[in-house]
Amino acid sequence: MRVWSIVSQKGGSGKTTLALHLAIAATSKGRKTLVIDLDPQVSAERWSELRDEAEPAIVAGEPERLGDMLRVAAENGADLVIIDTPPKSDRTTLIAAKAADLVLIPSRGTILDLQAIGDTVNLLKLASLDGRAAIVLNAMPTTAAQVKEVKEAAAEYGLDIIPARLAERVSFSRSLMEGQGVTETEPKSRAAGEIWDVYKRLCERDATPSRARMSERVGR
Ligand SMILES: Nc1ncnc2c1ncn2[C@@H]1O[C@H](COP(=O)(O)OP(=O)(O)OP(=O)(O)O)[C@@H](O)[C@H]1O
Ligand SMILES: [Mg+2]
Repeated sequence: MRVWSIVSQKGGSGKTTLALHLAIAATSKGRKTLVIDLDPQVSAERWSELRDEAEPAIVAGEPERLGDMLRVAAENGADLVIIDTPPKSDRTTLIAAKAADLVLIPSRGTILDLQAIGDTVNLLKLASLDGRAAIVLNAMPTTAAQVKEVKEAAAEYGLDIIPARLAERVSFSRSLMEGQGVTETEPKSRAAGEIWDVYKRLCERDATPSRARMSERVGR
């Protein structure tokens, strides 16, 4: 069972949007997927009421109970657990990051958002959890020059940046309003293509031992 935690102290960076879309993508690839919602606002869990399909399973819980929840998930044969977390909570961010194989920090592409993820990056660095973390660029501009600028600014943190990104598109929220992901409502769209690209890159990263990643980074 693999565990991917989505963390960012910055509100509205796309944690829940990414968590739900990745979970739907994994489910449609036949992986038994569970979303654990550690946000007291329970946005992901509430969203599951809009959805007719039973999968992915989405449950809310207290961060203190995460270990128990992961044990139960493993006993029930889960292949992938995606943990959604609240903004502005050091404690929950660290609990989720410690439990994860991959820690994903979504950030929007504006300079203000990129500056704001410094808090999350520093927190992970202090806890020596930055080695398993990577930035996922979200709600990105579509011109190449702007994308280049954003990537350069994100690279300042010294963390890996996932080499796939989501553009700013209303279809991500529109599909969720229908209880589905873009890979279901508009499977041939650019938005769906972006989710598949990000999902594929994350699977590749998840399959690479972190020591191999470290030496890649040193050799770069
Ligand atoms: N790629 C995108 N394009 C357009 N809108 C987006 C994109 N990603 C997220 N949004 C929108 O931004 C808003 C915030 O997204 P979301 O709720 O996923 O962020 P969050 O990090 O979970 O927020 P919070 O910190 O409050 O939990 C939502 O209205 C969502 O529809
Ligand atoms: Mg959220």
